[in-house]
Amino acid sequence: MRSAKDFFRPLAVGAPAPVREVPFRPSRMIHFFDPGNEKMAAKVPTIAPQVDVLLGNLEDAIQADRKEAARAGLVDIARSTEFGDTQLWTRINSLDSPWALDDLLTLVTEIGDKLDVIMVPKVEGAEDIHYVDRLLAQLEAKAGVRRPILVHAILETATGVANVEEIAGASPRMQGISLGPADLAASRRMKTTRVGGGHPGYLVREDPGADADAPRATYQQDLWHYTIARMVDACAAHGILPYYGPFGDIRDTLACEDQFRNAFLLGCVGAWSLHPVQIAIAKKVFSPAPADVAWARKVIDAMGDGTGAVMIDGKMQDDATYKQCLVVAELADTLAARDPELAEAYAAAEKE
Ligand code: GLV
Ligand code: MG
Repeated sequence: MRSAKDFFRPLAVGAPAPVREVPFRPSRMIHFFDPGNEKMAAKVPTIAPQVDVLLGNLEDAIQADRKEAARAGLVDIARSTEFGDTQLWTRINSLDSPWALDDLLTLVTEIGDKLDVIMVPKVEGAEDIHYVDRLLAQLEAKAGVRRPILVHAILETATGVANVEEIAGASPRMQGISLGPADLAASRRMKTTRVGGGHPGYLVREDPGADADAPRATYQQDLWHYTIARMVDACAAHGILPYYGPFGDIRDTLACEDQFRNAFLLGCVGAWSLHPVQIAIAKKVFSPAPADVAWARKVIDAMGDGTGAVMIDGKMQDDATYKQCLVVAELADTLAARDPELAEAYAAAEKE
């Protein structure tokens, strides 16, 4: 076992020192694109300012014979684009694939200073993170990268879910975890054929009334509630960030919004956007509503040092609601600092 004292020492001589706190940068939407697709690559300069995170995808959805083109495309795009304060992430191929090693070797040595986070798919346990952690340190040292590249795991195997707490705490590089509902469904042998969202067959039915033949209401249940809640707890316990992953039915913007909102309310800070139409959905859902922010500030002001109890509009407030309000207000401040439109909406709501 490594001593706790060594946890924050670089894993290679000359590698940058690990971070002690995960920097909280807005990441309401992690926008996926295929860096080997020239049409998509050409849109990067226009999309970059509209999103919090732009992610060059090298894994699933990129055909096997396009893997190298995608990797090379990402290097070109990273070198030729000014990202401003938009983060650049990548999703490498899974660690059991023939491409993962070259993904890491190429990306860290060629564009390591431009990459904020590397998303690692199909993480099953702490050993996967340890492998990436040491390799990244060696490559950072070799390439002279000045700040540590952070690691984000996708929770998309049954084993990964069983080990989610140890994954979340496996390295100071751990930035966050995303739910990967499509692969997770396959790994669990769920009987769905979709990417995220609910299923009409997963429901509860109202009890029968006096007339046993009368229609009985049904309520669709959330297939992902358990996993998201577990992921949120693991992330919060280790000071890292949880995310909903992909929602595959691009045309069903309403269900996408609902699914993202459930994740937001449960503690997630963002979701993936697979199509430009999902950027606005994520932005709306993962930014606290102006009325909620105004309320949170009212409670914070009324609570003074945050102890005791006060009544506001008939609702009891105490130390615990004060802390909830701080979560909302602090998130709003961080997002508003990057998003002038949001800052205006928050200021207007406070005046009401
Ligand atoms: C994402 O990668 C998923 O499998 O849902
Ligand atoms: Mg997947």
